[in-house]
Amino acid sequence: MSAIQLQSAAAPGAMPLRSGSQLSIVACVGKGGAGKSTVATNLAVMACLSGRRSAIIDADPQASSYAWKCVRANGDVPVVRCVVEALADAIEAARRAGIEILFVDMPPDWRHVPNVARLADLVLVTMRPTLFDLKVTRMLVPILNSANSSFAVILNAAPPLRELGEPPMVRQAREALADIGSRLWRRQITHRVTVPYATVRGATVVETEPEGLAAQEFGSLWNAVRNDLKLEGPIHEVA
Ligand SMILES: Nc1ncnc2c1ncn2[C@@H]1O[C@H](COP(=O)(O)OP(=O)(O)O)[C@@H](O)[C@H]1O
Ligand SMILES: [Mg+2]
Repeated sequence: MSAIQLQSAAAPGAMPLRSGSQLSIVACVGKGGAGKSTVATNLAVMACLSGRRSAIIDADPQASSYAWKCVRANGDVPVVRCVVEALADAIEAARRAGIEILFVDMPPDWRHVPNVARLADLVLVTMRPTLFDLKVTRMLVPILNSANSSFAVILNAAPPLRELGEPPMVRQAREALADIGSRLWRRQITHRVTVPYATVRGATVVETEPEGLAAQEFGSLWNAVRNDLKLEGPIHEVA
């Protein structure tokens, strides 16, 4: 199942900062409160459960992923704090430590996006289907295009899907992003209380409610990311 056609090939002219190691780098960018840390922590655990050494660099001074790690009993997913100016060094340290998939949880400040876009294999722009988030995403799209970045926009904390189709908020957000085509993930992460409920325990939805709908949605996103990064090997099947 390929949920999204994310473009992963480096575009012509992109500066290759990676040195051919096994490390894949996924950066989470977007408006404050959009769900960057939520996506980073949930996907990092899914990567870990699928048998890959995953880690998070928390480059946001608000340090949400780091706070999550501090309450997490399990040390399976290392989380390190880092100022954005030191990102390249921190990524190199992760590479040397044998990390296979690294999530970079970015601060909301758009001025850091070109830098991380050059370092990442994939940039996930997380957004809620709201006007305020849309405004930020619309500003980020040309920045990411200019950086020749492989990126995808992820709708998070969306109202639940209805039998008759997508709720108006989601439909309008998709219409406003129609020009980015398959870079807009065709699924959504729904707003569910189970998501912060897991976070506050230092866990993720695949651990607290593995059969639940939230775990299914994050599982779909992980599969899409995994496909885009062309990661081989077993997939942790989520429902
Ligand atoms: N899908 C979701 N359903 C319910 N709550 C969510 C969801 N995604 C994020 N949240 C909550 O929204 C708040 C902001 O999310 P967070 O991941 O910290 O955003 P960011 O890192 O972009 O600032 C947190 O309290 C988080 O638990
Ligand atoms: Mg955050």
